[in-house]
Amino acid sequence: MIPDPTVLVNPSHPVPEGFQETLELVNIAADPEGSVLMEAEAARAFGELRLFLERLGLPALPLSGFRTTERQQLIWDQTMQDKGPDYTARYVARPGYSEHQTGLALDVVLCDPQGLPVDDNDAPEYDVMFPHLHKFGFILRYPRGREAVTGYAYEPWHIRYVGTAAAKAIHDNGWTLEEYKEKENRP
Ligand code: DAL
Ligand code: ZN
Repeated sequence: MIPDPTVLVNPSHPVPEGFQETLELVNIAADPEGSVLMEAEAARAFGELRLFLERLGLPALPLSGFRTTERQQLIWDQTMQDKGPDYTARYVARPGYSEHQTGLALDVVLCDPQGLPVDDNDAPEYDVMFPHLHKFGFILRYPRGREAVTGYAYEPWHIRYVGTAAAKAIHDNGWTLEEYKEKENRP
């Protein structure tokens, strides 16, 4: 059971204390030898989304799911070394502040008609996927042009499970998760 699938984790909201202890993590790696962990309810939903996308001719490869704080630290350190502080701040969360640490976020790469993983933020395959995400309880967490609200640059590969009710509200209103939480908390 996820305590709250709409939990907000962003540069000013760390992963809540005790959240990780409640997670039931399952392996959703495309390669049976690999390991991509996701919270069980989110993993079931991703399984349905993946089947749906496959029927549309869009194979989806899960690349990175649940991360420990230590893993996020390694990614942060490596990106700082390879790409420097500006890029890192726009694309990588600080350890303790990544929603990958909730088991509800997933980096997914789509395949082109030749079956090769796309390697371009503007790949049209992503635009085919986006309008369907909410039906399976997912949102595009870092949409184009919303960096000032989410804190991160456009990441077409990063999807986030929030449950179908929240996903529909976010999709229908063009909100980010930040905006959804703000409306939800309003009396
Ligand atoms: N790429 C996202 C922001 C993360 O590191 O959690
Ligand atoms: Zn991600």
